Formats: sequence, C-alpha cells, structure tokens
Amino acid sequence: MTGGDTGVIVLAAGRGTRMRSALPKVLHPVCGMPMVAHIVGAARQLQPARLAVVTGYRGDLVRAELREAGVDFVDQPELLGTADAVARCREALEGCGTLVVLNGDTPLIRPGRLQGLIATRGDAPFAFASCVVEEPGRLGRVVRDENGRVSGIVEAAEYSGPAGPAEINAGQYCFDAAWLWANLEKVPISAKGEYYLTHLVAIAHEAGTPAVTVECDPLEALGVDDRVRLAKAEREMRRRVLERHMLAGVTVQDPLTTYIDATVRIAEDVTILPNCHLVGATVVDGNVAIGPGTTLRDARIGEGSVVMSSVIEDSVVGVNVRIGPFAHVRGGAVIGDDCELGNYAEVKNSRLGRGVKMHHFSYLGDADVGEYANIAAGIITCNFDGVRKHRTVIGAHAFVGSDTMLVAPVSVGEGAVTGAGSVVTKDIPPGAKAVGAPARVIGKAHPAEE
Ligand code: UD1
Ligand code: MG
Repeated sequence: MTGGDTGVIVLAAGRGTRMRSALPKVLHPVCGMPMVAHIVGAARQLQPARLAVVTGYRGDLVRAELREAGVDFVDQPELLGTADAVARCREALEGCGTLVVLNGDTPLIRPGRLQGLIATRGDAPFAFASCVVEEPGRLGRVVRDENGRVSGIVEAAEYSGPAGPAEINAGQYCFDAAWLWANLEKVPISAKGEYYLTHLVAIAHEAGTPAVTVECDPLEALGVDDRVRLAKAEREMRRRVLERHMLAGVTVQDPLTTYIDATVRIAEDVTILPNCHLVGATVVDGNVAIGPGTTLRDARIGEGSVVMSSVIEDSVVGVNVRIGPFAHVRGGAVIGDDCELGNYAEVKNSRLGRGVKMHHFSYLGDADVGEYANIAAGIITCNFDGVRKHRTVIGAHAFVGSDTMLVAPVSVGEGAVTGAGSVVTKDIPPGAKAVGAPARVIGKAHPAEE
C-alpha cells in the first residue's frame, strides 16, 4: 500500500525500432503476456490512485490489449522522447503528489522494488533504480560527483567513453509530482531531437537537490530493446513462473523443458512431466498429471485427469478423464467425465458425454456423443461436404463399430450398433443394428432382447 495520492505512468508509446517488428515493442509477449501488461500488473500492486499508459506507435493495438486493465490512456502524438511522454500525462494525473514512472519495456521489474523507490525518495525530488552491469550496451550511464551524489545520466547516443562495467539507469522512477511538473519543461532537446526524462538528474543536481538511487537486480534493469533481450526476459520470467507454481504445490519434473505462460492457473498436486507447454488461458484442476510431451492451449482440465503426449486446445476436459498418448482435442470440444481418448483420436467442436471411449485412430468433428458410447477403431465423422459442415449425433450407449463412416448430417440412435466397415448415410433408429455400405438396418442391436 502506498497511500491515496500515488499515480503511475507507464511509457508505452515507442516503436522499438531494434525489435525489427510491425508489432509495437511493448506488445511483444514474455511468457504469453505482453511486456506492458507485466508492467501494469506490477504497478497495480501499488494500488495507485491513477494509472496512465502513454501510447503512440500503433496506440490502437496497445489500447486494445489493455482495454480490460482499467487504466487511463494518454496519447503521445509525436515520439519526442520519454520526457515529452511524461509531460503529456499532467492532466490525467492531476491531484497525485507522488508519481511513479515506468518504462514499458522492463518486464522483470518487481513490485517490491517500486515500493522501495517510494520509500527511499524521502525529501529528494526523485528516486530511480540503478545497478552496475558488465556491459551497459544502449542503457543510460549514471554519473556521480566527487561526493557520490548522482549528477547526470549519459545516454548511449551521447556516450563516447570506454566500454566495460558501469552503473546504469534501470528505467523506473519515483517523483515528487510538484517538482516534476515544475522542472520537465527545463529538459533541453537532445542532438537526436528527443527530450530525455533522464536529463532531470542533471537538473536536480544543478539545483543542489540531487536525486537518489535504489539498487536493483540487473535483471530488473533488462530493457527489452531487441529480440536477444526478449529471449533473456523470457528465460527469467519462465523461471519465476515455474517457481511460483512449484511453491504452490505443483511438481515440475524438469523445469528446463517446461513452458508455462504467466496467465495459466494450476491447482495443488498437479504433476507436470518434461516437454510440456501450458499456454494462454489454461486452467488445470487438482491431482492432474500432464505430460510428457503435452501442449495445453486455452484448455481447462478437470480434477484427477491424465493427459499424456497430446494436444488440447480451446477445449474443456472433465473429471477423471484419460487422454493420450497422441490425441488432439480442439475447436471448443467438451469432454465429459470419465472419458478415455487415445492413440490418434481427434475430437473437434464436439460434446462427449460421460464415459465415452475412443481409443484408436478416429475423428469426431461437429458431433454430439451420448454417455458411455463406444467409438471403435477407425471411425470418421464425414462432417464436411466440401461446402458446409454438418453435425453427427451418436446416442448414449451406442456401439459404433470399427471403420464406420458417419456421413453427416446423420444420427446413430441410443443403444444402436453399426457393423464394421459401415457407411452410414441415413439415421439409424435407437436400438437398431445397421451394416454395409450404404448401411441398412438388419435388426435389433441386441437380438437376445427381441
Ligand atoms: C531508456 C532511458 C535509459 C535507461 C533505459 C532503461 C531515456 C532517455 N533513456 O532508454 O537511461 O537506461 O531506458 O531501459 O529515457 N517511450 C515513449 N515515448 C517516447 C520514447 C519512448 O513512450 O517518445 C517509451 C518506450 O515505449 C519505452 C520507454 O519509453 O517503453 C523507454 O524508451 P526506450 O526507447 O526503450 O528507451 P531506452 O533507449 O531503452
Ligand atoms: Mg528501452
């Protein structure tokens, strides 16, 4: 908690030329979440009175991505530098006495560090995060006077000294708002034609009230300006995400080959075997075993289920389901409790009732399958006539025999049976047995009952 008059500004207007991308830099994902969303998430934890995001290059995309984040947007019509971006926020942050300013390209910043900035500022006009790194690259270098007080930041474009270790500016600041608004207009234009926020360090020092620094971890200072740094940020974020899940009761057998997006939710006593990707809005309930070699994308997996060497996308899997090896469930499929799917079973946009078995190389597309139906080997719903998709309905307890082709739209009645190799082009009544190509009814499914 920081008190009610803290405002946060997230700078997200830049293009990020060195990313060499049509996508604005701040929208490049780190563990499945845009960089800027990580920053907004960290800022949120300060419970600020106001949270503004400055947008510019492809601002439409940035705003769309953050539309549910509950932030104010401020437009920076021309990319005239970080000081210009902050200056645009004055109206949106009216009434805030303390202002935290965050670059939008440092996804590894920790909320605790932002608290530290606020706590450390004291009477100084502002505090900013810094650390010593081996090779500053394109980061701004911190300059100190003979008393060790910060006297300036030299941006890479203006630096001509030797390479090697240096203290750098991490890109997170906490300002006394009144001081900031009074001094921003004093920032001169740089040789590159930009107004650098970092010039305020020299302005504060010249006024005899220097800024103060808070030491941060070099990873927090990782400004993602190119895709090499993007990969570094990804690796560290992945490590953090995995650690969070492990501490919350998830067994990750091989963290080096396990990829989990920051957006995924996993309950206690889930085990994840090597080579798994859990991405998007995936939710895994308790006592589930995932892997090895499994991808879950926007999938929901119910309590006690097992998913081995399979791919599940945009689909919901019930309780105590067995999936795999080598199944593909996709396109809004709903798999009922106690189902068993494996060995090249593909299910698309279909609903399977409880206890359906589908063990051997079959395809169910656009189908409704009743409970405890048995889908034998090699069954195909011929759901596409070349122009349109059609539905197939299979009743509860039906036994669809091996190699049956179900030419949709068509239905197999409750408890009905199809013989091996049938080509079903007409509805089969409940309890009937149909065989042949095209299939015809030859009697009851269970003659003993006649
Ligand atoms: C900036 C700092 C540098 C620091 C580094 C840390 C300045 C002048 N330099 O350099 O001292 O070491 O971050 O990572 O601030 N942005 C806007 N509008 C603009 C320009 C940029 O909103 O007109 C946004 C960008 O989208 C980005 C952030 O501000 O999220 C920082 O800009 P960037 O171009 O990445 O600055 P750096 O060169 O990394
Ligand atoms: Mg940067």
